[in-house]
Amino acid sequence: MKYTAIDSQLYKQNRERFIKKMKPNSIAIFQSNQIVPENGDAIYPHKANSDVVWLSGIVQEKSMVILFPNNLDKNYREVLVILRPFELLEKWEGHKLTKEEATSISGIKTVIYLDQVDSFLRAWVHHAERVYLDTNENDRMDTSLPRLDLYYVYEFKKQFPLHQYERASLLMKELRAIKSKQEVAVLQKAIDITHKAFLRVCQFIKPGVYEHEIEAEIIHEFLRNRATRQAYGSIIASGDRARILHYVENNQECKNGELILMDFGAEYGNYCADLTRAIPVNGKFTKRQKEIYDACLNVHKYTQKILKPGKTWLEISDSSELEMNKQLLKIGLLKKEDIKNDEMGNRACKKYFYHGLGHHLGIDVHDIGTRNTPIKEGMVFTIEPGIYIEEEAVGIRIENNYWVTKTSCQDLFKGIPITTEEIEKAMKK
Ligand code: GLY
Ligand code: MN
Ligand code: MN
Repeated sequence: MKYTAIDSQLYKQNRERFIKKMKPNSIAIFQSNQIVPENGDAIYPHKANSDVVWLSGIVQEKSMVILFPNNLDKNYREVLVILRPFELLEKWEGHKLTKEEATSISGIKTVIYLDQVDSFLRAWVHHAERVYLDTNENDRMDTSLPRLDLYYVYEFKKQFPLHQYERASLLMKELRAIKSKQEVAVLQKAIDITHKAFLRVCQFIKPGVYEHEIEAEIIHEFLRNRATRQAYGSIIASGDRARILHYVENNQECKNGELILMDFGAEYGNYCADLTRAIPVNGKFTKRQKEIYDACLNVHKYTQKILKPGKTWLEISDSSELEMNKQLLKIGLLKKEDIKNDEMGNRACKKYFYHGLGHHLGIDVHDIGTRNTPIKEGMVFTIEPGIYIEEEAVGIRIENNYWVTKTSCQDLFKGIPITTEEIEKAMKK
């Protein structure tokens, strides 16, 4: 990994929080994501399982975390499972973690090898009443694909059919949504790197540069600052392409007079930043571009003001959509009769703002957490209203990341250019 060492206290605290939520006499088992074949003998780059990372900081493939707080043998209440390193593997792939290194990263004192886990587990499971197993539950899950996490559940239940089973992901959804100070300190590094990359491309962009050249500048800035990778495929969309929400082709020339929408974020220390700006290719907004930008910014600022503990994300979203209705009325995109009878879930602004207001942010870009339970102190959200106008071939989205405090929220992109004046100033050569 390129990132500098993270204090294992972060993961220790996370494990303590999970253990507190476990029912008595239960064991919880978390395992790595599968290694996915690509073409021929190639494999996709390995992405560690987010729950394993949250509990241990371990990103090496084929690792597991096992929590059994009632284990009569105190030494095995928290166990980390790693690959047994061997010479040939290391000749091909480089260094693999030793037990000591794995302990130093995770703070877990007991480390066993993967080839030992089955025999250990059998004895532990026999002493437990309940088993927490972890699956990748999310609202957009493609359930038609064969998945290792589900396979593990089926196989496990076949071996131990009389145990009671619990969903670890249900607890994770609640726990991972609240970020500790230590987690936010790591996330802040991802955000600071992203901030730097934005300032760099503000100086780089001018008529005639290509979208992929901008993407290259961003990736260069990320890597030289020890980011692991892009948190997601950067969206570098000039002109009309800005209306395509997940445009990643990034192969067009940026033209004089157009806006360019850039949505990118660094992954650092396994935490993801997520930034979007739409800026003028030639460094100066036209009157109309400024009008649309300000309408979008007003909704962003409005949301920032109301984001605090108490309401649900869905309620915040609806208030912001009502604000977007007002803004779109002001800039001539909606008429009074358009908004007269609209209702929650189907506001008139959706014609021009056809995605959600934002999402939880953390180890995953679209991090786990709920949208329909009250927002709590410690949650991190993106706020990202957008306005996309086909008739004017323009798309604007303004996205920053916010940490919810007791009474309001803290902008983790504090100081980054966000008004049209600030952006024009950052672009001055
Ligand atoms: N880049 C994905 C998002 O903003 O949610
Ligand atoms: Mn984004
Ligand atoms: Mn986002």
